[in-house]
Amino acid sequence: MFMILMLCLVIFIIWRRYKSNPLSYFPSKDKSPNVEDGSLFFGVSFFSYTELEDATRNFDPSQELGNGGFGVVYFGKLQDGREVAVKRLHEHNYKRVQHFMNEVQILTRLHHPNLVVLYGCTSRQSNELLLVYEYISNGTVADHLHGKSANPGLLTWPLRLNIAIETARALVYLHASEIIHRDVNTSNILLDQNFIAKVADFGISRLIPNDVTHVSTAPQGTPGYVDPQYHHRYQLTDKSDVYSFGVVLIELISSMRPVDLNRSEDEICLANLALNRIQKGAVDQLIDPVLGSDSDAEIMRMVTSVAELAFRCLQFYSEMRPTMNEVLEVLEDIVADGRMPPPSETSDKTILLKEFLPSTVSITGECHSDSTGSTTLSVR
Ligand SMILES: *[C@@H]1O[C@H](CO)[C@@H](O)[C@H](O)[C@H]1NC(C)=O
Ligand SMILES: *[C@@H]1O[C@H](CO)[C@@H](O)[C@H](O)[C@H]1NC(C)=O
Ligand SMILES: *[C@@H]1O[C@H](CO)[C@@H](O)[C@H](O)[C@H]1NC(C)=O
Repeated sequence: MFMILMLCLVIFIIWRRYKSNPLSYFPSKDKSPNVEDGSLFFGVSFFSYTELEDATRNFDPSQELGNGGFGVVYFGKLQDGREVAVKRLHEHNYKRVQHFMNEVQILTRLHHPNLVVLYGCTSRQSNELLLVYEYISNGTVADHLHGKSANPGLLTWPLRLNIAIETARALVYLHASEIIHRDVNTSNILLDQNFIAKVADFGISRLIPNDVTHVSTAPQGTPGYVDPQYHHRYQLTDKSDVYSFGVVLIELISSMRPVDLNRSEDEICLANLALNRIQKGAVDQLIDPVLGSDSDAEIMRMVTSVAELAFRCLQFYSEMRPTMNEVLEVLEDIVADGRMPPPSETSDKTILLKEFLPSTVSITGECHSDSTGSTTLSVR
């Protein structure tokens, strides 16, 4: 009798601990078979649909954080107090449930200080598939640079350079894990309260069936960021991420939108605008005046070096673009150079830039002229 009582007590304690924090109770490499219903499967934590419904106040529009990239994202608060971002994928826009779970399992294993944590998804019994992410509080880089409540002055040059480096680190990590992000853009780079960059939405296209990503209406990258070679090969590679990252660099320098129909025809795409200006040696026309490069030679040096790096990332031919590893190294050197005595004569960076000018460069970039992706605008 006493034994039975003790057993009940132990089970009760385990249940209590488990309920208060399912994530920390089971070790993440738990190889136990599927613990059905509201629990953990090979390290993926499952949330019940009702739990997420409650957390997001029934998916109230006022809880909406963003819309795009295969679904709508809602702010939510779980019963254990954790703040989360819940992504509700557009209906039928995902692979078979089992496949989906397998992919989520891969993605939840990725851990890097500059990647948003993916906690898990709804269980297979749920009537909808939802993804549950850590909530990052200070909005997207796009919001800060050119969104509705933009305040570009808040993001000083050192902060922007830091965002570039941290984003590059996350992408290096993803590529080393053989994951292509496929949708690098400034709406997918989030900032926490200390302005640490957190890359979101990585690997989303792994959850989507191939036949959906190949039809023209499905989002596959964002207009203005898409590798121009994608239109020829219909395949995104790690060098496509490098191209998109080049556009992000130009946004950080200029605070301009990646696509802006208000600009002259051949400059609707920020990538083309940047290539034009840099080739003309007019980097200064790209720079957002709030960065203070006019009055500070050191900032001018760094911004110019970053523009040159972006120029290499934006090459039409993917083989001519650097790898993310190289990109990260260059960015770190740009910061480190400022702490060392200036080099005696011409830096090899200027020679590098000349190598790309102008015969080897093709700026026949294509750019979708609207966000539906229905019309393609060929520049030149
Ligand atoms: C980034 O991509 C998402 C879709 O994946 C899109 O909704 C959003 O508008 C893009 N952001 C920018 C700044 O283009
Ligand atoms: C982001 O952080 C800054 C500084 O901590 C703060 O002033 C600003 O209001 C925050 N913005 C948002 C959208 O949370
Ligand atoms: C385009 O430019 C006009 C006038 O310069 C301005 O009123 C309008 O808000 C701009 N539109 C966008 C989408 O930026």
